[in-house]
Amino acid sequence: MFDLEGKIVIITGASSGIGAALAQGFSRAGARVVLAARRKQKLEMVAAECPGDHLSVEADVTDPQGRRDILQKTLERWGRLDILVNNAGIGAYGHFLDTTEAEWRRLFEINLFAPVLLTGEALKIMLNQGAGLIINLASLGGLLAHADKVAAYVASKHALLGFSRGLARDLAGTGIRVLAVCPHLTATEFFSASGGAEELAPEVKKYQGFMDSPEEVARGILDQLDASRLVVFPTDKPARAYAKQKDL
Ligand SMILES: NC(=O)c1ccc[n+]([C@@H]2O[C@H](COP(=O)([O-])OP(=O)(O)OC[C@H]3O[C@@H](n4cnc5c(N)ncnc54)[C@H](OP(=O)(O)O)[C@@H]3O)[C@@H](O)[C@H]2O)c1
Repeated sequence: MFDLEGKIVIITGASSGIGAALAQGFSRAGARVVLAARRKQKLEMVAAECPGDHLSVEADVTDPQGRRDILQKTLERWGRLDILVNNAGIGAYGHFLDTTEAEWRRLFEINLFAPVLLTGEALKIMLNQGAGLIINLASLGGLLAHADKVAAYVASKHALLGFSRGLARDLAGTGIRVLAVCPHLTATEFFSASGGAEELAPEVKKYQGFMDSPEEVARGILDQLDASRLVVFPTDKPARAYAKQKDL
């Protein structure tokens, strides 16, 4: 079992959903948690449910200053960084032919470039320590096209998974590991916050009863922090969906 006592953990997108459940789960397990996102009030509400020492940083991960703030405030407070969870992400629903260049670029800014650039900065700290863990929140959609009308999202999560694979190879022997977490449908604000939310709403309703809760996903991640494989399914549902669809 991974010992989280006193570990310093940054979680992006901690103001709701999986990130919020992870912040509370890490905190309950003894870690010192840095909660980062743009909505200050939501961050404070989540932080109030974190029993351990914690810090909230209002930051946009697509903004270089936001990424600097997250790392600087962490170092000022605790002087080290053990785990970075690149969880902040958005979806987009719509046929490829209706997806604009701006939508593609926005998805890749948040789902790929922000984690890549934050990881690059975090590694400067972790490599000096000779230890660390990078956790990227990918998706079942990072392994296959799991639905219609999500080409841009699926492309962004395949890219994040590809980055995770390449990074893990480059970090071999450094003491720093990489995990790529692949959840499936999870009941969070994700669907209402996604581009194309109105068109998506009836689809979401159909699958509501089948969805994992963010707490189940967070527990599944916390239970597998020691995993020696890169791809981690947080619950049985994405693992089964992958087994069924992987040859399609
Ligand atoms: N829900 C699912 O079915 C599902 C399935 C597979 C994978 N995932 C992945 O899991 C991760 C978490 O999603 P979720 O379901 O928990 O969604 P969520 O409830 O909508 O949470 C997304 C989080 O990302 C933050 N965020 C968005 N843009 C940001 C930015 N520019 N800067 C900083 N923070 C930003 C949001 O906070 P603010 O708005 O306060 O900034 C929020 O805390 C995402 O990467 C998503 O792709 C979700």
